Amino acid sequence: MARITVVGSGVVGQASGRGFLHHGHEVTFVDINPEIIERLRLEGLTAKFPDEVHWAGADITMLAINTPTVDGKIRLEYFLNGLRTVAEGLRGSTRFHVVVVRSTVPPTTTVNTVLPLLQALSGRRVGDSLGLAMNPEFLRQISANQDFLEPWVTVFGTYGETEAEILGELYAPFSAPIVAVDCTTAEVIKYANNLYNATKISFFNEFHLVCEQLGIDSLVVGRTISRTAEGMWNPSYGTRGGWPYGGACLPKDTAAFYDFASEKLGLEMPILLGTMRVNEILTRRTTAPTTMHEVVSAEELILDAHSSANHAATVAISGALSSEFVDPPAESMLNAPFPMAHAGGEEIVAP
Ligand SMILES: NC(=O)c1ccc[n+]([C@@H]2O[C@H](COP(=O)([O-])OP(=O)(O)OC[C@H]3O[C@@H](n4cnc5c(N)ncnc54)[C@H](O)[C@@H]3O)[C@@H](O)[C@H]2O)c1
Repeated sequence: MARITVVGSGVVGQASGRGFLHHGHEVTFVDINPEIIERLRLEGLTAKFPDEVHWAGADITMLAINTPTVDGKIRLEYFLNGLRTVAEGLRGSTRFHVVVVRSTVPPTTTVNTVLPLLQALSGRRVGDSLGLAMNPEFLRQISANQDFLEPWVTVFGTYGETEAEILGELYAPFSAPIVAVDCTTAEVIKYANNLYNATKISFFNEFHLVCEQLGIDSLVVGRTISRTAEGMWNPSYGTRGGWPYGGACLPKDTAAFYDFASEKLGLEMPILLGTMRVNEILTRRTTAPTTMHEVVSAEELILDAHSSANHAATVAISGALSSEFVDPPAESMLNAPFPMAHAGGEEIVAP
């Protein structure tokens, strides 16, 4: 049983705290918002304002403070204010304590900003009596508690081995594969995750505009290519470090469709244009892409929860070898019913 202080008891903080309580840990929720503290106390949970907390009395402090983007720039001051309070509260104690960044922060923030501030204000050294970790959260706000309890994958980046072992043990009962990396990799994984989701939505929306112009149903196009395009169902498709696409079809078809959309439909396709530009940049590069022997297979990368709790090793992220090494979509997935269209466009569900 670990004693965990969660600083910032909003969506992520509450889901995390409730999840750890479910697994038998002792959790103190901390927030500066009186309404949140009152609500949590009414539920019988331990909830405190920052000045009421005995910081060194816990084993782990998790920072889940809001990091909003204002006028296109991330605002870290709320997060850093919380961090300052924690760091000052840890001054004077010698018991090992892990500080975990759960907020979404730009790459290198944990090592270049959090670490020096934590050391300066606590008077303690990371790697000595302090551990430091970056543990991004992937939950969806709409199903936060359930998503925290049943994650698809748990990711944590750690500075030292002791905190890697502690987090490995903490997350082992969640029964999800664990990716144990360094702090900056964990920060990048979080952004890459969200940016991929955003890009996918924009890709389909770009096609929706094309379909509208052609008077066809974009839903039929989208649902169908979710089965036909290998990149949709093969998790490792395209994830090899730095290799541009090539072959007989992708270069010629991307260019031809871009020309068709602009000449015949008068449509901009900024995602498609960006796709071609990235490929040109990678093709022209003189630096070699990641070579095959440097690429770690998905199986090696995604450690199972049990072995990770024991090793909690730092693993290089590179993606999988190639599509030959990845299973095709499961039979059940290919046969699952999904909306089809008659010639008239009316949707039915395939038997
Ligand atoms: N909401 C999501 O679905 C989601 C998912 C994954 C990651 N994230 C990331 O997690 C972080 C937290 O997001 P959230 O949605 O839980 O935010 P939130 O606004 O719901 O909660 C943040 C809480 O932190 C509190 N707080 C602010 N300053 C504080 C301080 N100095 N001390 C103590 N508490 C303080 C606020 O009062 C608030 O209750 C953000 O970086 C966000 O990007 C959010």
